Amino acid sequence: IAVRVVEEIDSTNEALKRMARQGLKEDFLLIAGKQSYGRGTKGRSFYSPESTGIYMSILLHPKADALQSMRLTIMAAVAQARAIERLKGEAIQIKWPNDIWLHGKKTSGILTEIIGVYENGQVSGVIVGIGINVYEPRQGFPKPVEKIAGALYGPDEWQENLKNDLVVGLLKKFFAYYRQLPEDTFFAEYKKRCFVIGKRIWILPVPEKIKKKSDSLPTEQILKDLPEEAEVLDLDKQYRLYV
Ligand code: BTN
Repeated sequence: IAVRVVEEIDSTNEALKRMARQGLKEDFLLIAGKQSYGRGTKGRSFYSPESTGIYMSILLHPKADALQSMRLTIMAAVAQARAIERLKGEAIQIKWPNDIWLHGKKTSGILTEIIGVYENGQVSGVIVGIGINVYEPRQGFPKPVEKIAGALYGPDEWQENLKNDLVVGLLKKFFAYYRQLPEDTFFAEYKKRCFVIGKRIWILPVPEKIKKKSDSLPTEQILKDLPEEAEVLDLDKQYRLYV
């Protein structure tokens, strides 16, 4: 796999997409020190300031269809959880489908995107984008995400080579799983870590008046009938999942 490290880019996912459209056929890893337009799921942005986080994307060409390719998200989540756990010595949980949680806060996310699909159903390429908040930014996280966003370490807990070690640990695991793509061995591990499994969930429509604003919080009306500890996951603009 080819590797490129850049200081700054709009989004490592977008950059790889552009490169793939321009004919890049090999597997490729792109790592950036900072993203000016980091992207999250559902059209959200991913706060990607300089030096505090890991922002990287992997372009792959698996012999798989679109559905099988989405397993890469699960693989990346488990690989991340294991790599972080090794460094921190703390149990890391996964919030379905792709968030890594530590002490009740989201410390990282994964955005998997399919570039295209051939006529036989096989994907022409997949990009797995991984963003990890390694250190808490000194100025804190921006307002819209400050309640849920967390980091693995505080702003004064800087450690030499920590980000490198994390990237290497994660990639080693990820590619070990990737080579076994059809065997699903990582699913057992995912199930162990995913704290949504076994919990009671509610899937409810998003109220009409807030449908357009996908970031809006649920209304009092919906919250009224849910237990206090219920957490909210967006499924899409129409439905929300309450865990
Ligand atoms: C999410 O939780 O919403 C997914 C966040 C994914 C962020 C990563 S950072 C590297 C890659 N490039 C992007 O623009 N997004 C992903």
